Amino acid sequence: MKSYEIAVIPGDGVGIEVCGEAIKILRAAAEKHGFSVKTTDFDWNCDYYLKHGKMMPDDCLDILKDFDSIFLGCIGDSNKVPDHVSLTLLLKLRKGFDQYVNLRPIRLYPGIETPIKTASPQTVDFIVVRENTEGEYAGIGGLFKTGSPDAFALQTAVFTRKGCERVIRYAFNLARRRKKLGNQSPVGMVTNCSKSNALNYSMVFWDSVYYDVAKHYPDIKTDFAMVDAMTMWFVKNPDYFDVVVASNLFGDIITDLGSMLQGGMGFAAGGNINPEKIYPSMFEPIHGSAPKYAGKDIVNPIAAIESIAMMLDHLEEPSAAKDIREAISKVLLEGSIRTRDMGGQDGTSKMGDAIKNALLNS
Ligand code: IPM
Ligand code: MN
Repeated sequence: MKSYEIAVIPGDGVGIEVCGEAIKILRAAAEKHGFSVKTTDFDWNCDYYLKHGKMMPDDCLDILKDFDSIFLGCIGDSNKVPDHVSLTLLLKLRKGFDQYVNLRPIRLYPGIETPIKTASPQTVDFIVVRENTEGEYAGIGGLFKTGSPDAFALQTAVFTRKGCERVIRYAFNLARRRKKLGNQSPVGMVTNCSKSNALNYSMVFWDSVYYDVAKHYPDIKTDFAMVDAMTMWFVKNPDYFDVVVASNLFGDIITDLGSMLQGGMGFAAGGNINPEKIYPSMFEPIHGSAPKYAGKDIVNPIAAIESIAMMLDHLEEPSAAKDIREAISKVLLEGSIRTRDMGGQDGTSKMGDAIKNALLNS
């Protein structure tokens, strides 16, 4: 029997609840599909910081490196630790494990309302490939002349040939895979999310790498939009997109808008992927830890559950992943269980249980 070792970092706030539901579904999928899962929990979060003065042990990469995958709830509680400090945990794992692709599918399940009029399950089916280890998140810079009238800050973005090329190539390969499946439209297109009109070094460089990579994919259409215009097109014509490739910061911003096309943050899943599988990849819902809702059993666990499906795809258990998505679809279409973000009154665990039942009874 195949067996997977999964590291679980529930994190802060609602991370703990959504993680519980996600792991429940992972176990159910394992039972149904004949593989086994061993999970190990790590209590690295803001409370850990208050006790130890750091978010995680210094050797956290060593501790996690042999796991098959990592599942993360969400990190951060600014009442306890400033966000730019707590989020070092997330960024350290993304960079340390060279998870250079942040994969964020933008799909709308049937039966879900979104605030965006153009969005329907037919029009919303694309995927954002976000660069995840460098760019605007390189963490290079400093504060100078602090406290004086001449104070200033520098934050340097770093775009390397290698860093741009590998993520753009991943996007083109993904477009090819989607084209083969052929179930969405348009097929076989990678839209370059840029801002080379204003960012005259970094984004001009990024664009040049995009076109260099594109030459190797004559079967895939090239496409281009400035990031500001792209936010407009996401709303106006979501059906236009297939694969979007974006730098770290731009990918971050456009996927929050993407989540609204999906019906809200409760549905937005993500995977931090090391495609070569040299290091473990990490899967997480893209929503925050929402401390004010923590422990109340009211948030939507679907983003976390969908992230488990992404993990199973990565672990090459595609039928288990597909089953999870179908179970989510079934529960949403049936419509009697609805969390508050969906206008209902049902709890996090009730939604998790319904998806589990749908999965086991399909
Ligand atoms: C995300 C989050 C993180 C990011 C924050 C919490 C550092 O917004 O995963 O999208 O900006 O990458
Ligand atoms: Mn974000």
